[in-house]
Amino acid sequence: MEIEYVRSRFIKHFDGLTGAVYTSPGRVNLIGEHTDYNGGFVFPGAVDKGIMAEIRPNGTDKVKAYSIDMKDYVEFGLNEEDAPRTSWARYIFGVCREMIKRGVEVKGFNTAFAGDVPLGAGMSSSAALESTYAFALNDLFGDNKIDKFELAKVGQATEHNYCGVKCGIMDQFASVFGKKGSLMRLDCRSMEYKYYPFNPQGYKLVLVDSVVKHELASSAYNKRRESCENVVAELKKTHPEVEFLRDVTPEMLAEVKDVVSEEDYMRAEYVIEEIQRVLDVCDALEQGDYETVGQKMYETHQGMSKLYEVSCDELDFLNDVAFDCGVTGSRVMGGGFGGCTINLVKEELYSTFVSEVRKRYFEVFGKRCKIYDVVIGDGARRLD
Ligand code: GLA
Repeated sequence: MEIEYVRSRFIKHFDGLTGAVYTSPGRVNLIGEHTDYNGGFVFPGAVDKGIMAEIRPNGTDKVKAYSIDMKDYVEFGLNEEDAPRTSWARYIFGVCREMIKRGVEVKGFNTAFAGDVPLGAGMSSSAALESTYAFALNDLFGDNKIDKFELAKVGQATEHNYCGVKCGIMDQFASVFGKKGSLMRLDCRSMEYKYYPFNPQGYKLVLVDSVVKHELASSAYNKRRESCENVVAELKKTHPEVEFLRDVTPEMLAEVKDVVSEEDYMRAEYVIEEIQRVLDVCDALEQGDYETVGQKMYETHQGMSKLYEVSCDELDFLNDVAFDCGVTGSRVMGGGFGGCTINLVKEELYSTFVSEVRKRYFEVFGKRCKIYDVVIGDGARRLD
């Protein structure tokens, strides 16, 4: 997206003056799904698509916000009771509130924003929105005194406190810390992270968007999280050191099989296996062993579909087509219930796979899937 696109609308919508322009990306995740809130590992990277916003302090105590894509305008104050009803505006409001809670003296501003990361496609458009404003408010009102990890937490707290999703830290971390050409392995317990240059010779990372929106997903997401916490609570009784599922071995899990519900047990089983898969994929990557990487991706899909139950018919179908076409690795990406599969595809297979998946998806579901080639980009930044 070009700065001019946002700037021209900002000028037109407000008083003709320009402000500062910020952007933050959406993300992909190679492997490590639903592991972040379990203290495990994730392996995301930022993409070259996201949200861009222009902002100018307006000398009042009101935020005047314009969504270019939705052609929608909302005004709100900065006190807790001023929360707007419009869902996109709640993200911006939440970020303002969380920055204020951290001592930043946020004042009124005019802002217009637009995005090129698809909404509800599991690429974290909401984290991109949060990170854009967290980064911007820190720069405009906070002398950049809030560090990058805390900016990511501002976005996460916005989800928890203003949007009703008890998410982990992966999306906001990726959006803030992203680096062109690199994936990142984050240990969500210690918050240690490492950049992994990702340029697999002879392969492409491709997203296939099922165009199923995961709008109903927040309550199901929170429920998955509760299941994990139930199992931890049970295990704590005999293993007081256990803080997260990260600390639980398969043997320990087996000890509570008859005590926890069958559903909670399946959820925990998936998470424990998935945390291990991230480590296995890191080892495989270090050896250039993409076959193993791909195999682990298929295992993740199975786990998310059968044990964690966050897939859907469309995503399972996309996964099957990838397998039939000989794609190296494929799985549902992100929280689930819709959105994209992420596919590791040999270059020579790329065009066959893309045309096959388009054709078969349309035949079976009567909908057109969308294909995005993944380009790993930079994290939150000021542009002008
Ligand atoms: C959503 C959440 C993340 C993470 C993923 C699943 O994207 O926002 O914190 O839990 O789902 O891996």
